[in-house]
Amino acid sequence: MQIITEPCQMQAIAEKLRLNRQLIGVVMTMGALHEGHLSLVKLARQSSGTVILTIFVNPSQFGANEDLHQYPRPFEQDVALAKAAGVDYLFAPEARNIYPENYQTTLECGALGKRLEGERRPGHFNGVATIVTKLFHITKPHRAIFGEKDAQQLAIIRQIVKDLDLDITVVAAPIVREESGLAVSSRNIYLSSQERSAATILYQGICHAEKSIASKKRDLLAIAAEIEQMIASTPGCRPDYVTFVDEERFELTERAEEGKEYRLLLAAYCGAVRLIDNGKIRAS
Ligand code: PAJ
Repeated sequence: MQIITEPCQMQAIAEKLRLNRQLIGVVMTMGALHEGHLSLVKLARQSSGTVILTIFVNPSQFGANEDLHQYPRPFEQDVALAKAAGVDYLFAPEARNIYPENYQTTLECGALGKRLEGERRPGHFNGVATIVTKLFHITKPHRAIFGEKDAQQLAIIRQIVKDLDLDITVVAAPIVREESGLAVSSRNIYLSSQERSAATILYQGICHAEKSIASKKRDLLAIAAEIEQMIASTPGCRPDYVTFVDEERFELTERAEEGKEYRLLLAAYCGAVRLIDNGKIRAS
């Protein structure tokens, strides 16, 4: 595995791979690699000749009161995990090479980037959109694998690819969970052991929604309210939002129609840690 830190060097390598007809798969991360990230690498490995993993804690997607400076950066451990997972190139640039002095351009997301996570974290998705687009231009992938864990981010990246005519196939990877149901996340390290077990209420909420919809309940607002209540009555937990969106357009939805797919989105605080989770549910 080769470690690259300079954008122009990564670009030159990607260009050469393309000239050699190599299918490039990219996995973008902020590091602190875990089973979720590694499942994306595995998917990339299965469908691409060359796998590029990027590690960059992107300052422009963090709000002023967020955890940019505390964000875990176990680089040596990440290098070992990436190597073992079969990554060919690890691209780990420094912030000053991604946003040099006098950097000016930001991609502006539309309505999709302003609801839900976008409303709670103003500017977050503009930062994500900008770095993801820059990394597309630096790594020149044919395929890019993103996790369903960040469902709104995934929807925004699909929108960027469509709106900007990028010739890239976006592949969605299912959410990797711990045995308890808790979705694996780099931020789980901030949870105390009590908070960690309380946090499984998010997954229990998803299971509750699945059961309700399977038993022909169609009022999604009522189901979401029940889940909010489940979270609110868990000691140490506080719901931020619980809502259903339709799987096609990612718009807020109040009632389920037979045969359609919906995504339940949840955000909650467990102690001081804000967690997000989601589940895809089909009304049959
Ligand atoms: P990060 O939070 O490091 O996540 C990197 C990728 O791993 C994302 O596509 C995310 O959805 C996926 N992922 C995280 N946890 C997962 C899990 N439990 N199961 C499956 N996939 C999971 O998302 C970002 O970084 C950044 O916003 C980034 C896209 C890299 C731009 O900076």
